[in-house]
Amino acid sequence: MGISVRYEGAVAVVSIHRPEALNALNRELIDQLDACISEIESRKEVKCVILHGSKNFAAGADIAQMADCDPEGAKAFAFSPVYNRMVQLPVPTIAAMEGYALGGGLELALACDLRICGESAKLGFPEIGLGIMPGAGGTIRAPRLIGGAKAMEMIFTGSSLSAADAERIGLVNRVVSDGDVLTAAMEMAMKIAKKSRAALEVAKHSILAGMEMTSVTEAVAMEAENWSGMFATYDQKEGMHAFLEKRKPSFADR
Ligand code: CAA
Repeated sequence: MGISVRYEGAVAVVSIHRPEALNALNRELIDQLDACISEIESRKEVKCVILHGSKNFAAGADIAQMADCDPEGAKAFAFSPVYNRMVQLPVPTIAAMEGYALGGGLELALACDLRICGESAKLGFPEIGLGIMPGAGGTIRAPRLIGGAKAMEMIFTGSSLSAADAERIGLVNRVVSDGDVLTAAMEMAMKIAKKSRAALEVAKHSILAGMEMTSVTEAVAMEAENWSGMFATYDQKEGMHAFLEKRKPSFADR
């Protein structure tokens, strides 16, 4: 049982492994995810992160571990601080989902920037059937991604979506054949990893910061400031001159 990280070039692959419980996330796994995030943050060569659970992404938070919590105990059990750190990783992140992505598992996928799933994947928020609601970003991030009505339907009924329906409403970016999920995520990650980390960081920061802002005018001003600032980077000069000289750019990530 555990969550661990390995590296393939500039791509960090975080694996969730607790097959006997369909990768249900307990406190120990979340603490291990926290440690993986810290390690990835310290590695400046990483340009993309994949989060993957084989057979199942994660069937939610561990119900057995939290069933008898009181409100204070439930707060201590909360996953949001770690999921927020996932959101704040400076480079793009991809959830590669096979099988079940339910409850806290789907919320973990929502804390990633991009989502790919297998054609048999089932995505949902079953919490209402347990007498609770999603509590690790589900009621907040899902409506922003798929709209309030679709999020409310998922959360109020507890019904899971098929991969096809999840793609149709924009909950996942791409559906691939079962068994090809990690390969497809790696292909996307490799494409991203060829880009400048400096540019990826500013792009991700602008998107996340813009989504937190209510004024479009202020958000566009923030974007313009970030954009012009990029003209101080080596990679902007390299990217544009490579185009003009009809060659591939060689980015230095600065
Ligand atoms: N917590 C603890 N154990 C879990 C689990 C979970 N979320 N999901 C599955 N398991 C365990 C089962 O207890 C079972 O263990 P045993 O073999 O020891 O009995 C094992 O995994 C296999 O599960 P099933 O026998 O139930 O497998 P199935 O194929 O019949 O059903 C399933 C699969 C529909 C996913 C079903 O396991 C299920 O409904 N799981 C719970 C899903 C859920 O409610 N998730 C939300 C949790 S609450 C949450 O996440 C709160 C939050 O917002 C943070």
